Amino acid sequence: MIMNTCFRHRTMTICSQEKERKNIVMRESEMQNFRIEEEPFYLPISDEVRLFELAYENRLPLMLKGPTGCGKTRFLGYMAYKLSLPLITVACHEDLTASDLVGRYLLDGSQTRWQDGPLSLAVKHGGICYLDEIVEARKDTTVVIHPLTDDRRILPVEKRGTILEADDTFMLTISYNPGYQTVLKDLKQSTKQRFITVEFDYPPASLEEEIVIHESGVDRATAVNLRKIADKFRNLKGRGLDEGVSTRLLIYAGVLIVKGIELRRACSVALINPITDDREMQKALEEIVASIF
Ligand SMILES: Nc1ncnc2c1ncn2[C@@H]1O[C@H](COP(=O)(O)OP(=O)(O)OP(=O)(O)O)[C@@H](O)[C@H]1O
Ligand SMILES: [Mg+2]
Repeated sequence: MIMNTCFRHRTMTICSQEKERKNIVMRESEMQNFRIEEEPFYLPISDEVRLFELAYENRLPLMLKGPTGCGKTRFLGYMAYKLSLPLITVACHEDLTASDLVGRYLLDGSQTRWQDGPLSLAVKHGGICYLDEIVEARKDTTVVIHPLTDDRRILPVEKRGTILEADDTFMLTISYNPGYQTVLKDLKQSTKQRFITVEFDYPPASLEEEIVIHESGVDRATAVNLRKIADKFRNLKGRGLDEGVSTRLLIYAGVLIVKGIELRRACSVALINPITDDREMQKALEEIVASIF
C-alpha cells in the first residue's frame, strides 16, 4: 500500500514536472517573438530610466504622457531590453474591444479553440504590456485593466469564467497624449489614478541634436539648424499649430537631407506639410526655414 502511494506520488511528480517543462518550453517559444534582441538606441532625458526600474520592481503600473514622436515607444523598447522582458505592444483604436485584449474563442474546423489576447499573454507569461494611446480604446476596454492595476493584479476572463493571476514579471504601461483629448474622450480619473505617470517632452536641444545625428546620419551643423527650426515651430503651438514638430519628423528631414534632397525641400515635406494643411501657415513656416537654411 505504501509502495503504491509512493509510486503514484512519483508518477504524479514526474507528470507534473513534464507538464511544467512543456509549459516552460511553450512559454519561451510564445514569448520569443516579443523579445528585443538588440539594444535600442535611447538617450535618457531625465530620471525616466530609474523611475521605470522602480515601477517594475514595485509592481506599479506606469503611464507615459507626452506629444507624438518624442520617444515614448523607443524608451519602452529600451527598458524592455534592459530588463530582459518581452514587450507586447497594443495600438489602441476606437474599435478595440475587451476581447481583442483578453482573448476569444475561434472556430477551428468544427470545433472552437481559445486564443489568448495580447493582455492575457503578458499576464500569464510575464513581460511588459504596452497599451499605446489607451484613450482611443472603448470605455469597456479600459475597465478590463482596472483589477490588474491595483494590488489584486488579476485579469478576469469573462468568456471562460476564469481569473488569471499576473505573473511576477508582468508590468502594465500605457501611453497617453493629453493634447488630443476632448472632454468627451479623456481617461477617467479612476483609470488615471492607477498609474504613476512620467511626462515626456521633446528632448533638450543638445540631446535632440545627438538623436537626430544618430538616427539620420546628418552632420552636426545641419542637426543644430533643424533643432532651431523645431524651436520656432514649437513656439507656434496653440497659435496656428495644433502640435509642434516632433523629434521623429526632425529625423525624417535629416534622412532626406542625407539622401541628397535640397534643405528647404526636405523641410517642407518632412517638417511643414505633415503638421499643417493651412496654406498661409505653410508659407509662414517656409519663411522660418528660409531664415535658417
Ligand atoms: N531619447 C531618445 N533617444 C533616442 N531616440 C529618440 C529619443 N527620443 C526620440 N527618439 C527618436 O524619435 C523617434 C520617435 O520616437 P517614438 O516613436 O518613441 O515616439 P512616441 O513618443 O512613441 O510617439 P507616438 O506618440 O506618436 O507613438 C524614435 O524612433 C527615435 O528615433
Ligand atoms: Mg509610440
